[in-house]
Amino acid sequence: MDAVEMGGYTVRLVLPHETWAVRSSVLWPEKAADDACRLEVDSDDGVFHFGVICEEEVVGIGSFMPQEHPHLEPTIAYRLRAMATHSNHRGIGVATMLIRQAESVLKKQGVGGIWADARKGALGFYACLGWEVTGAFYTVPKRGPHRLVWTRFDE
Ligand SMILES: CC(C)(COP(=O)(O)OP(=O)(O)OC[C@H]1O[C@@H](n2cnc3c(N)ncnc32)[C@H](O)[C@@H]1OP(=O)(O)O)[C@@H](O)C(=O)NCCC(=O)NCCS
Repeated sequence: MDAVEMGGYTVRLVLPHETWAVRSSVLWPEKAADDACRLEVDSDDGVFHFGVICEEEVVGIGSFMPQEHPHLEPTIAYRLRAMATHSNHRGIGVATMLIRQAESVLKKQGVGGIWADARKGALGFYACLGWEVTGAFYTVPKRGPHRLVWTRFDE
């Protein structure tokens, strides 16, 4: 997967530990930026992590894992987790850049779409991307209300 560059920001594959600082500061503030931020599946087959890099710092992250959703078509075969942009770099397209790159890579691999459990505060972001925001709100312990979001890639 080639790195993609835009205005001083580069999307590239990162290792799980490179996501920890942003996972801790943005998503899971009660956790230190260390092994505590590891997801059990981080190193499983098919799992990859994109980072957006600015001046050698990881400022945006998203982790993609092969997993179907029980209420979606099985072709929507990847799940997005731990999507975040550092607060100093929001609103300028960092997360969009990362998602578009992941969509492109997965589409080339023959995957039909991506889904995520999205925080209430981020639903507008997924709507901006053109993803579907569907179903009722549900509560994720410690993290609050979420809704299912998903996208199906064009044929
Ligand atoms: C959601 C998040 C990842 C978006 O990152 P970002 O880099 O600022 O997003 P972008 O700059 O690519 O935004 C793309 C579009 O979505 C909009 N948008 C971004 N975040 C939004 C939000 N929380 N609510 C509504 N709209 C939002 C932007 O205004 C932009 O719209 P435009 O294209 O009309 O200008 C970031 O706000 C974040 O890390 N939030 C806290 C953690 C979180 O909730 N993560 C998601 C967990 S599911």
